Amino acid sequence: MNAPGPIPPQALCASDELEERGKAVVFDVLLWRQPARAFALRFDGRVVAYLNRCAHVPTELDWQPGEFLDTDKRWIICSIHGATYEPADGYCIAGPCRGEQLMALDISERDGQVYWYPSPDIQPVPFD
Ligand code: FES
Repeated sequence: MNAPGPIPPQALCASDELEERGKAVVFDVLLWRQPARAFALRFDGRVVAYLNRCAHVPTELDWQPGEFLDTDKRWIICSIHGATYEPADGYCIAGPCRGEQLMALDISERDGQVYWYPSPDIQPVPFD
């Protein structure tokens, strides 16, 4: 029997759903086979995606569903204790987990569509 091949890229959303420094698209994934969530947003023209899990305490970051950025739209801020992350690379630059990093997901954009790439750690939720 053949081993299963790599899981193909997963369609996430249309490119124009992600406005520059706008609301994120939040989506369900499996992290180490357990339900978790991830998010994608556009920052400086590029779509970035991270697991929705603070590096300080494993809780979701967003203030309101899909709202991850501070009022100046410059930093990702954790709503619990204010850890401040660089959107471009997910590094925490201030707060209780300074120097740690959000878990990134690989993303691509082509033909007006955004895709994310599963990894051994982060997998899509199977259809029923
Ligand atoms: S849980 Fe995010 S800063 Fe503490």
